[in-house]
Amino acid sequence: MNSAELFYSFFQKEPTITTSAHGRVNLIGEHTDYNNGFVLPSLIPQSLQVSINLRDDDKIIGISSEFGELQSSISSLNDGTWLDFIRGAIYFCQKLSPTIKGMEVAVSSSIPSGSGLSSSAALEIALLKAITQLKGISIQSQEIAKIGQQIEHQFVGTQCGIMDQIASACGIFGQAIFLDCENLQTKSIPVFLQHSFVIIHSGSTRKLSHGKYNERKNETLKASKILEVPSLRHATIDQLMKIDDPIIKKRAKHIISENDRVIKAVSYLEQDDPISFGELMNSSHQSMRDDYEISSDELNQVVVSANKNGAQGARLTGAGFGGCVVILTKNEELKSVSESILEECSKAYLVATISKELNS
Ligand code: GLA
Repeated sequence: MNSAELFYSFFQKEPTITTSAHGRVNLIGEHTDYNNGFVLPSLIPQSLQVSINLRDDDKIIGISSEFGELQSSISSLNDGTWLDFIRGAIYFCQKLSPTIKGMEVAVSSSIPSGSGLSSSAALEIALLKAITQLKGISIQSQEIAKIGQQIEHQFVGTQCGIMDQIASACGIFGQAIFLDCENLQTKSIPVFLQHSFVIIHSGSTRKLSHGKYNERKNETLKASKILEVPSLRHATIDQLMKIDDPIIKKRAKHIISENDRVIKAVSYLEQDDPISFGELMNSSHQSMRDDYEISSDELNQVVVSANKNGAQGARLTGAGFGGCVVILTKNEELKSVSESILEECSKAYLVATISKELNS
């Protein structure tokens, strides 16, 4: 059921507006965004839709195809439910249009949640698009993305970077977005012609606000303080010797080396060199497994299986601690590689394919 149908069946009336936003897969550059570094995400076909109606009182009434119905008010405390996103969106939109009050909202989504594919950012972007369009507020996509990030920081509790919101708000299908998180400059680069990115869910999920993510962010901030740089984006590998704490050293090593890999990956994508790009994906996964310690047995198993079955490279995508793997494979081997992985990894399932052929 789409969100407009869900809205109608729950509220017994038509919504005033329906908007949608896509999820993303990150091809390379993990946890670099909150260190002002580089990322290379791309949109996935799955999206999230919201249908809304603004109310004259302070109530928020919500129905979600995945999480069921909830009621609250704009002034209630955050309670860890999906209504925190609604409260956040209303709070920031009130700054642009003070007459906004409560809201009725229906959400339906085909993006697997807690899987590293940015279902949260898609909810923020779809909501912000709906409210701003409805109130005739003219606002640029990047500004919408920045507000989405603030909803995470102030209402959800995840101290995330800006990658997901920029990808969801500004992404173009079939293109990777090279984003410099220091100045928010973007460059769109078409994906490979004869190779595809396959997204396979490992079968394990995680909840982003459950501490580990923020812990990693704090560890990298500590590293930048020790190295006396404004962010790890400005640090180099040979500076690592100045860090004594072995954990902080490993975390910094991942970020510094990952930024370097993104820069190289962008040039391999532009030069149509999938073999070298795939090698970088494998070293990125190793770095996340051993230095950043955000992988899981299920994710590692999918990566091993992908490489064993002829993929060019594979890595976990998104925040980690569960979720999805992105795999680079030749178009003609896409089916056989995916099938072999699904046979070998009992909990895994296919989520999407990003391919120039399929998207054009
Ligand atoms: C989550 C966050 C992003 C980014 C990734 C890891 O998706 O929302 O900002 O940090 O994890 O790369």
